[in-house]
Amino acid sequence: MNEYRGLEGEWHDLFWEEEELSELPLLRRFLKETPHGQVLYIGSGSGRLLGPLSQEGFSLLGIEASEEMVMRSQKQWPQAEVKVVRWENFEIDERYAAIVVPAFTLQLLEHPVAALKKMRKAVSEDGRLYLSLFFPWIELSGELPSGKKWYEDRELELPDGRRAQIWTRHQIDENKATLRREHRYRLLDAGGEVLQEQITKQSLRWFADGTLERMLAKSGWKISKEIPNFEEENGDDDLVYVVTLECEAGERA
Ligand SMILES: C[S@@+](CC[C@H](N)C(=O)[O-])C[C@H]1O[C@@H](n2cnc3c(N)ncnc32)[C@H](O)[C@@H]1O
Repeated sequence: MNEYRGLEGEWHDLFWEEEELSELPLLRRFLKETPHGQVLYIGSGSGRLLGPLSQEGFSLLGIEASEEMVMRSQKQWPQAEVKVVRWENFEIDERYAAIVVPAFTLQLLEHPVAALKKMRKAVSEDGRLYLSLFFPWIELSGELPSGKKWYEDRELELPDGRRAQIWTRHQIDENKATLRREHRYRLLDAGGEVLQEQITKQSLRWFADGTLERMLAKSGWKISKEIPNFEEENGDDDLVYVVTLECEAGERA
């Protein structure tokens, strides 16, 4: 579960493009401000962000659970270094200058506190951490139906004229702060006939403000900067659905 494969992997970047949200400027600035040394990128996927940053000269090692995503990355960005391994199984054999976990990947990890502690262990004493997280306001507000009913989530036209659809259904466990989502990926021809279908399951966590601060402190991290909605300049009254955190290494847990 939570590893990207098949249509989910193939369409991942296209749907991100549609959202017109880019973390690239934030990551670039973070890396420029990071002391010299190699940076570990957890959940590097297809290389969508890893590739351009490696090409710009940043020294990054991507680690990615899905072999299929790694193959995409190597094909499109052959110069970007990437390994197939889950973060939980990664062997730390050197100290990194920083760790970056963009695009909400921390929320896909089964034991986020253990994962954050391991990240602290993997960096040098002045090591840094970059995380971006989202808050599922729409699901929590009840605006979308929860339970067994599928709803059409997103649709786009593929470059060859066929259509890509994502249908979703979800369940919320407020006590465990866990959102379980099933996505039904559908490839349709121009006439609307379904050519291919894939159902994936995902379990992700969300963290309320206080919880997140406590989790980070417990794992040996101090928050040094919070950026709402991928925008450095943001009106105070906007709803914060995505938060990017920059952290510095503190006392090890
Ligand atoms: C939302 S995608 C983000 C991909 C990439 N960071 C991007 O922005 O394009 C999350 C990625 O994390 C990978 N992943 C999930 N669990 C993982 C784990 N335990 N260790 C390493 N990678 C993981 C998935 O296979 C997927 O490629």
